[in-house]
This record gives sequence, structure tokens and C-alpha cells, in this order.
Amino acid sequence: MPTPIPSPRIGIVGAGNIASLNVVGYLEDPRCEVVAVCDEFEDRAARAASAWGVPRSTTHVEDLLADPSIDALEILTPTHLHHDHVLAAVAAGKHVSCQKPLANSVDDARAMARAAEEAGVVLRVSECFRHYPPLETAKRLVAEGAIGRPTHLRLRTVVGQTESAFQAGLTTDGYVWRLNHQSPGGHLFDDMIHKYAVALWLLDQDVVSVQAVVRRRDAFFEPCAAVFEYEDPGLLGTMEVSYAPDMWIRSDYYGADEFFEVQGDEGFLWVTRCTGQLLDLPAVVLYQGGRGAQTTTSFPHVDDDWASGFRRASTHFVDALVEGSTPGMSAADAVKALQLCFAVYQAGTTRLPVDPRTVSGAVVPEGWPP
Ligand SMILES: NC(=O)c1ccc[n+]([C@@H]2O[C@H](COP(=O)([O-])OP(=O)(O)OC[C@H]3O[C@@H](n4cnc5c(N)ncnc54)[C@H](O)[C@@H]3O)[C@@H](O)[C@H]2O)c1
Repeated sequence: MPTPIPSPRIGIVGAGNIASLNVVGYLEDPRCEVVAVCDEFEDRAARAASAWGVPRSTTHVEDLLADPSIDALEILTPTHLHHDHVLAAVAAGKHVSCQKPLANSVDDARAMARAAEEAGVVLRVSECFRHYPPLETAKRLVAEGAIGRPTHLRLRTVVGQTESAFQAGLTTDGYVWRLNHQSPGGHLFDDMIHKYAVALWLLDQDVVSVQAVVRRRDAFFEPCAAVFEYEDPGLLGTMEVSYAPDMWIRSDYYGADEFFEVQGDEGFLWVTRCTGQLLDLPAVVLYQGGRGAQTTTSFPHVDDDWASGFRRASTHFVDALVEGSTPGMSAADAVKALQLCFAVYQAGTTRLPVDPRTVSGAVVPEGWPP
């Protein structure tokens, strides 16, 4: 167990597109202090520090590593840099929260987990979907038996367009490293990693076999349809991902949305939105179809703002630092999410079932990089 830190001092590494959503949870938390911001672009680091009221900015991560007063780092750099940044941070004795995906390969992620363990510091992956209140509510309801024994999980993602101020304000840097050789494979890697993490976390079971069809469209690899077999042979998962370039999606953030459906022996549970607000429906709907009394319940008071997942993920990290507890998502869970991702690519190429637990390294889809 890590030693509790009563007032953690946190440094931010990477002040790009997603940083502001991540940092809010720290800035609002009176228990911790954000003391420095690092970005390789001087003006970006300085602008972020000024906007967030943070006293110090730098272009060198080494400045943060060498500062003994900094307890923890939030790593928000491009994914291909996570490995080096996390290893440097844990070698400097810092606790680390790192944005998803933890790394570009299973082997790198395992090495990072090992290094953190040996250094005796926390390494957790900031996975906002696991802290999105409607999904947390769904997980709780399933665990409480609200739909009986789960038999099907469906994860649906659509990527389209939006006119949100957030989307309009994005710099284009993030579309370069995500879509070239610095990534092992585009959207099914970078964004679907959330859905792989949810597929494993929501029902608390490992996937033992994956089948998939993965098409390539534009710069993304989709449409994709995948079937997951879980440890419980009575439970199946399906994941569908599609790109709709001519569909505008109501959203305060990216032009995308997700829908989740869990069916059990006694009912259904739907989470009807996530990144976007495509549907005018309550975010969580429960159908309980027991003999004699069928009820449909919605949960109008559940906070359904996608940004809340980021805020709560940061609060959760501070909770762990202050209490000396172990925060989620663990590096071991992040490894499993990466394995599931690469199993989808491998099954999509070979058209044969793949046991994700056997996947190491990285699997790059045919034709990548585009
Ligand atoms: N949870 C989510 O929904 C979500 C959404 C978007 C991005 N992400 C993840 O967050 C990470 C960052 O994504 P982004 O979209 O903000 O990317 P980005 O490219 O917009 O931002 C990355 C920032 O890191 C900076 N940087 C690069 N090298 C650096 C270095 N050596 N030292 C210091 N700073 C450096 C860049 O200048 C840039 O400002 C990625 O891992 C991405 O997958 C997660």
C-alpha cells in the first residue's frame, strides 16, 4: 500500500487537447495542488499554467522529475511517449496517473507496470469511461442483480461530425500521431480502448475469445463488428464501431456517441449516451421483467456529462494519494484492455478466434499506417 500523502502536489505533463478536461478535477480539489505544467511548446505550457492559475511552467519534463516537492505526475502526452515518460517518472519516485492507452504495446505496458511496482509507486491509468456516472450506475445495478444473470453486453460506437466549441478548438497535432506510424492503428486503438476497458470492467469478467470483422474506411479502421466470449460461457459481448461522415451528432465534445446495452435473464439495462447527446433519452434505463411485475425505471438524477468521467477520474486519483489506497484503472487492467484491442485486430486479419490473454507485443492491422 502506498504511504498516504495528506496534500499531494501534482505536475501536469502535456497541455494538449485533452488536458483541460483532465485537470479540472485536480484544480477543483482542495486536497491537492497543481504546481507545474510541462509541454514541449513553451507558449502552450505558459498559456495552460496561466489559465489554470498554476505558478510554474516548463518545456522540460526533467524539471518536474528533479523537483522533490512534486509527489505525482499526470501524463497527458501522445500515447507513443507514455512509455518513456512513465518510466522516467517512476524512476524519479513519482506516483503516476497516465491517460489511456497506457502504451502502444502489451510488452511496454507490462514493463511500465513492473517498473512502478519495483519503485513502490502508484501507476494508474486515467480511464474516464470507468468514472462516467451512467456507466458506474449500470455496473452497480448489474452487480446488485437488477437484471438477473447477464447474458449479453452490446457496445455501440458511432463517429460522425459535430459543431461543438470543444471540437472547433482542437489543435491538429493529435490527428497526426494518432494516424501515422507512431500509433499501432487508428481509431480502433485510440478510442476503442475505452470500450475494451468497459467490456472488461462493467461485468467484471475476462474475455477468453474474440472474433472480428474489421474494415478500413478513410483514416479509420471501421466498420468493425466483434464478438467477445467471456469466462462465463453463458455471457457474450458484441462491439460495433462505425464512421458516419455525413452524420452530425449533438455533442459538447467530440462528434461521437456510444450506447451500451446489458441483457440479463430478468431484464435489460441501457446506457443511452456517453461522449455525445445524440438521443433525447434518460442516460440510464432499466427494464425489469420479472413474472407479475414488469417495470421500466430511468435515473434522471445521474450526472450524464461526459466531462464528469474525467473530473471523477482525477478526484479518484487524489482520493488514493490522500488515503494511501490503490486507484483504478490498474496497469494490469490496462494490459488486458490492450490485449483485447490487439485481439480484435488479429482476429480481423486472420478471421480466426483469438484468445486475448495470449496476445503480447502489438498487432497492427493490414495497410497501417495509411
Ligand atoms: N480519455 C479520453 O477520452 C481521451 C481523449 C483524448 C485523448 N486522450 C489521450 O490523452 C493523451 C493526449 O491526447 P491529446 O488528444 O491531448 O493529444 P495532443 O497531441 O493534443 O496533446 C499532447 C500534448 O503533449 C505535448 N508533448 C509532446 N511531447 C512532449 C514532451 N516530450 N514533453 C512535454 N509535452 C509534450 C504536446 O505538445 C501536446 O501539447 C493520449 O494518450 C490520448 O490517447 C484521452
